[in-house]
Amino acid sequence: MALKTKFTETFGVEHPIAQGGMQWVGRAGLVAAVANAGGLGFLTALTQPTPADLANEIAKTKDLTDKPFGVNLTILPAITPPPYDEYRQVIVDSGVKIVETAGSNPAPHLPIFHDHGIKVLHKCTSVRHAVKAQSLGVDGISIDGFECAGHPGEDDIPGLVLIPAAADQIEIPMIASGGFADGRGLAAALALGADGVNMGTRFMCTVESCIHQNVKEAIVATDERGTELIFRPLRNTARVASNTVSREVVKILNDGGQFPDVMELVAGARGRKVFEDGDLEAGIWSASTAMGLINDIPTCDELISGMVADAESIITGRLAGMVG
Ligand SMILES: Cc1cc2nc3c(=O)[nH]c(=O)nc-3n(C[C@H](O)[C@H](O)[C@H](O)COP(=O)(O)O)c2cc1C
Repeated sequence: MALKTKFTETFGVEHPIAQGGMQWVGRAGLVAAVANAGGLGFLTALTQPTPADLANEIAKTKDLTDKPFGVNLTILPAITPPPYDEYRQVIVDSGVKIVETAGSNPAPHLPIFHDHGIKVLHKCTSVRHAVKAQSLGVDGISIDGFECAGHPGEDDIPGLVLIPAAADQIEIPMIASGGFADGRGLAAALALGADGVNMGTRFMCTVESCIHQNVKEAIVATDERGTELIFRPLRNTARVASNTVSREVVKILNDGGQFPDVMELVAGARGRKVFEDGDLEAGIWSASTAMGLINDIPTCDELISGMVADAESIITGRLAGMVG
């Protein structure tokens, strides 16, 4: 048996499960493992220091899998923005056929991607932005609820409301993100009107994820309360793991501090150190409430096939048994 949805059909993958872009985490080994397991993995373009490095990482991924995979292009306001157009050109030239856009309106990038037969899955955190992206002509929506790691937006609407509210207005394939980690979540997302799920935190905590074992073990040990929402007063909220650094950032900003007062604490290089050295207090690192559902460190194949099997048995067994 298999779960066939609009998402699996449109994006040409076996299972309705995606691994979203993850800074410092979305590299070739993980993405290829997700692809080989029948899911849709995304390399994170900006994890690569230059567009040429991204070209190499794409080539490395192609050496590890024959299955489809994509590239995440996250476009956020920055003091010195990365050369987005050059990263985009690398994606186009590489022959990758799926892109996950996030962070801002995908309109400037759509014509070039579509001219080269590249499908665009746009990630957003509100129904209005999903509707807007659909009207712009993207090929799929990934709607990220308040539970998620990274940027949940400022509306604070969890998936239980966000997903069906979006499903009411979205006709193109739509996957749901934020707090998904197992087959129960997958079955629930399908019931709420989504065509699959996207996960970040759950995929961080797999055998093939390149991050330090200490971080994976911390995710297993942490429950659903183990996150902080930083940058709330700046209206640029990010959900990250709770540690001395994230709690300090919350305190400084709640006490009236401004971005320059926390800039050093939230530096990307410090967060990267957490993943590379396993020092959980070195900086800020993204993780979600899904930590409360993560109790093991499986391979991507075990994770994806287990989730699909569990979702199928919930749908055909437990739920079907309740009818009539
Ligand atoms: C370590 C980490 C880094 C992330 N970096 C990015 C990123 O660079 N761009 C992006 O669009 N989303 C990023 N995300 C968000 C994920 O793609 C995904 O939307 C989110 O993790 C879903 O919530 P979940 O963690 O509850 O599954 C990141 C998530 C994590 C855990």
